[in-house]
Amino acid sequence: MNPATPARSAQRQRYLMCRPTHFEVTYSINPWMDPAKPVDRDLAVTQWEQLADLYRQLGHQVEEITPLPGYPDMVYAANGATVADGRVLGARFRNQERAAEGPAYLEWFRANGYTETHDPVQVNEGEGDLLVVGDRILAGTGFRSSPESHAEAQEFLGRPVVGLRLVDPFFYHLDTALTVLTDDEVMYYPGAFSPGSRAVLERLYPDAIQVSRADAEVFGLNAVSDGLHVVLPEAATAVATRLRERGFTPIGVDLSELFKGGGSVKCCTLRLRD
Ligand code: ARG
Repeated sequence: MNPATPARSAQRQRYLMCRPTHFEVTYSINPWMDPAKPVDRDLAVTQWEQLADLYRQLGHQVEEITPLPGYPDMVYAANGATVADGRVLGARFRNQERAAEGPAYLEWFRANGYTETHDPVQVNEGEGDLLVVGDRILAGTGFRSSPESHAEAQEFLGRPVVGLRLVDPFFYHLDTALTVLTDDEVMYYPGAFSPGSRAVLERLYPDAIQVSRADAEVFGLNAVSDGLHVVLPEAATAVATRLRERGFTPIGVDLSELFKGGGSVKCCTLRLRD
């Protein structure tokens, strides 16, 4: 390890997850989804349970929301809301297929003691596009969340929101193109962003790990960091090497079935920042 590498330490976290009891791929709203390709739902559940168990072994707390039949994408809990300082910004989905998930997630928060909640007016797909990095929020637009939702998020969450434009349909949510590693470190795939947004990322995070399209294609950026451990798809071996060089402990997991819906580790994990 380079002597300049900072000492890493894990921070206990709380996550909300949704068991893939009703998971299937029957429609296609991103380029990864192919309804003609078979999905093994039992395997999806097993892989998902392994992820939840891993989080618990790492000392994190996992809460569960009851999955709704007919909403196969509800397993991608990251899209359900954005939570910062206990304040919950609800999600409003771009696609009709997922519309009911927004109110269902907000209902979970209200039933679980969160009093500061906001029903969004603009389209935002939760932590899929709104990533809290320390005091600021990086916010994606271009495919799902609208640019107007960025102002709504800033007003409700009271943190500066930096808008970033996504340009590659394979990386349609910000959390498929950028990982938050610590309060001031991110890693990302530059090709997923417009030239101006790339310049913004270089200015804000000049030392960030930049990964290749091949790394992003195995969802190597759809990862969850607790400050030390970075849980990511096991196929993302090159990303794991880069993380080790920076003093992180990468842990690979197999989420092959949920990959067929266009998501992986981070998509299945909504961070509860209380
Ligand atoms: N099938 C889902 C969709 O297209 C996948 C969502 C992935 N979630 C994420 N946080 N990137 O909406």
